[in-house]
Amino acid sequence: MANTMNNRRPMVAGNWKMNGNLDLVNKMQDGIGNLAKQDLDVVICPPSVYLQAFDKQSLLLGGQDISEYNEGAHTGDISARMLKELGCRFVIVGHSERRSDHHESNELVAVKARVALEQGLTPIVCVGEPLSVREAGQVFDYVAAQLDAVIQGVGSTQISQLVIAYEPIWAIGTGKSASPEQAQDVHHFIRKHIAKADEAAASGIRILYGGSVNAANAGALFAQADVDGGLVGGASLKKDEFLAICQAAN
Ligand code: 13P
Repeated sequence: MANTMNNRRPMVAGNWKMNGNLDLVNKMQDGIGNLAKQDLDVVICPPSVYLQAFDKQSLLLGGQDISEYNEGAHTGDISARMLKELGCRFVIVGHSERRSDHHESNELVAVKARVALEQGLTPIVCVGEPLSVREAGQVFDYVAAQLDAVIQGVGSTQISQLVIAYEPIWAIGTGKSASPEQAQDVHHFIRKHIAKADEAAASGIRILYGGSVNAANAGALFAQADVDGGLVGGASLKKDEFLAICQAAN
């Protein structure tokens, strides 16, 4: 059960990454439609080619990335404006797989967050450290640098419009989630760090945890004071498991 000590609306976002097919779209559509009336935002971020196959009346949709440009000669890229036109409300920016596979810098991620806001999308900004940084005891410095770039990029008046996802890289796709205490520790740091720029925004901003979230560990993670839901990868491809995770956040 999600913590109830604040007025932040819980959120669970499923990041399908480069997985799924039309059959999964239909299965998820049926399952999630029933959750729509609950006190929870459930967002599906499928590969962009499947966005139009969803019925956006009954669920929230997000993209997995956007270009920093709105249009032009950028073969293979997709703009915030295009996602918006297809009914998306959210877009993931700065996922660690984009940062590593496509060499995306903190500064580029910040530009993408700004462009998303300009086009009326809520960016889900991913931050999180590799194992070497955790082992060196430098998690807070590393995450602070990722946050600072975004705070600078979007401007302090816009911080409240963001969703942050803390995804430690060592926990992604490994089956080895952060413990609830490890997650809370970093989420609390993130909220305190944002408070330095805008105290009101910090108390209202949603901070999701991502990295091997499943039906068994979601409840304990989401019960932490500064964990407002999850960004779910592998488990978002299994309907029953994903629904159970959503229930844990509700
Ligand atoms: P897993 O849930 O598969 O570990 O992936 C997490 C993630 O990267 C979500 O964006």
